[in-house]
Amino acid sequence: MTRLPDDFVLGVSSSGHQIEGENDHSDWWAFEQRGLVAGGDRSGRAADWWNRYRDDVALMQQLGVRAHRFGVEWSRVEPAAGHFDDAALDRYADMVTVHRAAGIVPYIALSHFTIPQWIAERGGWLAPDFVERLIGYTERTVRRIGRDVACYFTLNEPLTLASMAYYFGLWPPQHRSLSEYCRVQRRTLEAHLGMARVIRSVAPGVPVGLIKAWSRFLPYRRWFAGDQAYAALTDWLFNGAYLSALCSERLPPPLGHWERLPGLRDSIDLYGLNYYLAFYGDSLHPSFPHPSTTGDRLNQLGWGEHPQGLLIALRRARRLGKPILITENGLATDDDAYRGEFIRRHVEVALQARGDGVDVRGYLYWSFLDNFEWAEGWRANFGLCGFDHTTLARQPRPSAYWFGRSSAARELLRYG
Ligand code: FCB
Repeated sequence: MTRLPDDFVLGVSSSGHQIEGENDHSDWWAFEQRGLVAGGDRSGRAADWWNRYRDDVALMQQLGVRAHRFGVEWSRVEPAAGHFDDAALDRYADMVTVHRAAGIVPYIALSHFTIPQWIAERGGWLAPDFVERLIGYTERTVRRIGRDVACYFTLNEPLTLASMAYYFGLWPPQHRSLSEYCRVQRRTLEAHLGMARVIRSVAPGVPVGLIKAWSRFLPYRRWFAGDQAYAALTDWLFNGAYLSALCSERLPPPLGHWERLPGLRDSIDLYGLNYYLAFYGDSLHPSFPHPSTTGDRLNQLGWGEHPQGLLIALRRARRLGKPILITENGLATDDDAYRGEFIRRHVEVALQARGDGVDVRGYLYWSFLDNFEWAEGWRANFGLCGFDHTTLARQPRPSAYWFGRSSAARELLRYG
C-alpha cells in the first residue's frame, strides 16, 4: 500500500465549459453549433454543473474528495463587451463557499481554452485589446471571489490552445498559421504576466499559478535519426521552449528572439502540470506525432499509457524552482478497473519524483464527472462519475469510491 504524505493533496479537476452546460456566449458554443465537433456533438446541458454544483460538491464530500480545481468562464462573467454579469459572479463565489463548507479545497482556473464569442469575433487571442480585456475580466472575477481559494491559475495549457486553434486548425478559430501560432504563444505569456499582477494586487497572499501540459516525445523508430530529430524538435516546441522562457525570462525561438519578459519567473507561486501521454514522432509522416506505440493499451481516444513520462516531466519542471501540483491526469475508458490501475501508477510516479526531491504537492484526477471533450465530443469517459444524459443523475463508478476512500485514508488502498 502506498502512503500519501500529509501535505500531498489528492483531488479532482474539471473545467467550466466541459461540465457547466449552456455556456452559450462562448466561442466553443458557436463552434459546436456549426457541427464541427466529432459526431456533430454539442456541449448542450453538459453535466449541468452550473445548476447542480451543490449536489456535486456534496457527493465529492461524501466520497472523500478533498480538493477540486474548477473553472470560471469569462463568457459568463462578461457575456457582452464591458457588460459584467453580477449574478454569474455571485454564483462562482458561491461555488467557492460551498467547497470550503464541505472541506474541499478550491483551486480556480480563470481561462481554460474558451473565450467569449464577442472577442472571438474581433480576432480572439490576436485581437489588439485581447490581453487588456482578459485582465479586466480577471480583476472583476478575483475581486468578487476573493481570497478564500488555494490558488488562482491564470491559464490552462496555453500551448495546447495555441497549437490546436492556430496551427492545427482543429479548434476555433481553426487557423493554420505558423506565425499566428508563435504570436499566440507569446501572447499567452504576456497575458499570464498581466493576470498575475492584477491577482496579486486584488487578492494579496493568494498563490498564483500557470498550468502547462507536458507530454513525452519519443522517436517512432528508436533507431532512426530522422525520428530522433523530430522527437527532439517537438519536445523543444511543446515542453522545452516554454519552460526555458519561464526560467530565464527571455523568449527563445519560436516564442521570440530572446527578448526579456521581466517578472515571469516570480509571477508563478504554484506550477500546474497536466500530463497524459507520450507522442511518437514519425519524421516520414510529420503532421501529427502518434499518441501511442506498438503494444500500448489504448484509451478511448487512442492514447497509450506512459507513466514514466510524468516522472521525466516532473524532474524537468523542477528547474523552475517552484512547487508543482499535478493539475490533470486521467484516463478515458469504459473499463473502470483500468482507471484505478492507471491512477495508482501515476500517483506512485508522482511520489517517486517527490522522493527524488521534486516539490510535488499533489495530484488532481481528470475528471470528477464525464465531460464534453472538446473536438472529440462526448465519446471520452474520463469521469470517476458518469451521469445519465437524460435525467442527469450522477453515477459514481467503483473508482470514485476507491479514490475517495484512499484520499480520506491518506493511502492508495487496494482497488476493489
Ligand atoms: C487536457 C485539457 C482538459 C481535458 C483533458 C483530457 O488537455 O486541459 O480540458 O480535455 O485534456
